[in-house]
Amino acid sequence: MPTLKTTKAYQYMKHSNLNRGDIATFRRATITPGTPYKKFPDADRYTLPTDWSIDEPLFVPLLQNRRSKRQFNDHSITLETLGFLLWAAQGVTASAGKYLFRTAPSAGALYPVETYLAIENIEGLGRGLYHFDPELFELEQLRRESVAQDLAMAALNQQFIQQAAVTFVWTSVFRRNMSKYGDRGLRYMLMDAGHICQNLLLAAEAQHLCGCPVGAFFDDEVNGILDIDGQEETVVYMAAIGSADG
Ligand SMILES: Cc1cc2nc3c(=O)[nH]c(=O)nc-3n(C[C@H](O)[C@H](O)[C@H](O)COP(=O)(O)O)c2cc1C
Repeated sequence: MPTLKTTKAYQYMKHSNLNRGDIATFRRATITPGTPYKKFPDADRYTLPTDWSIDEPLFVPLLQNRRSKRQFNDHSITLETLGFLLWAAQGVTASAGKYLFRTAPSAGALYPVETYLAIENIEGLGRGLYHFDPELFELEQLRRESVAQDLAMAALNQQFIQQAAVTFVWTSVFRRNMSKYGDRGLRYMLMDAGHICQNLLLAAEAQHLCGCPVGAFFDDEVNGILDIDGQEETVVYMAAIGSADG
């Protein structure tokens, strides 16, 4: 019987970690890039309308205008807005028995993704590391000193993380969905994180904020900042959020 640590999913996560020690000598596999668009030259083609009469005055600009932005000013974000962002990303919207359904879908409603916040510039909250409790809609303060610089360093020195008002760090608790899905659960965990991140980015856009998703990080270093073991729970994704000029 495979245990969590002997699964291919678990070993793949370990195998695909980025490590500071290896980064200088890291060589990409010799894989030829694919063509960017797939075409069926022999198929009948139908031009799609772009002059829509669909009345979506709020939704369309969010999708149209969202861009990954990596330059933030020093404007703070209110606690109310942070609450809105957290609700949009992972807020509870319905319940059925033991299940608390969220704004973002999750395979099997198992919600393996946890949210941590590296807070730098939120009105009414001190700098530090926090964890989001979606059940009670509360934040739990885990560290009282800023972790943004360490987080930026751990994210391959991407400095915009240090300038962000808040950086969302998403982890996955493997066994929460792998006990049901086994190796396939890895796919679902990462898909779940993608849904959550996109919800957050669109909510930020709706509040005239901006952000950038971050997938490049030294896994062990981020796990160290969060004080998680990288076995039961490991970082999967991050997003820096702040205000930008213009
Ligand atoms: C899974 C994923 C990981 C990403 N990681 C990073 C990152 O580490 N650093 C960064 O600056 N941008 C990162 N990005 C942002 C992409 O570079 C960006 O989405 C892409 O250039 C398309 O631009 P757009 O988001 O403005 O549409 C990431 C995006 C995704 C979806």
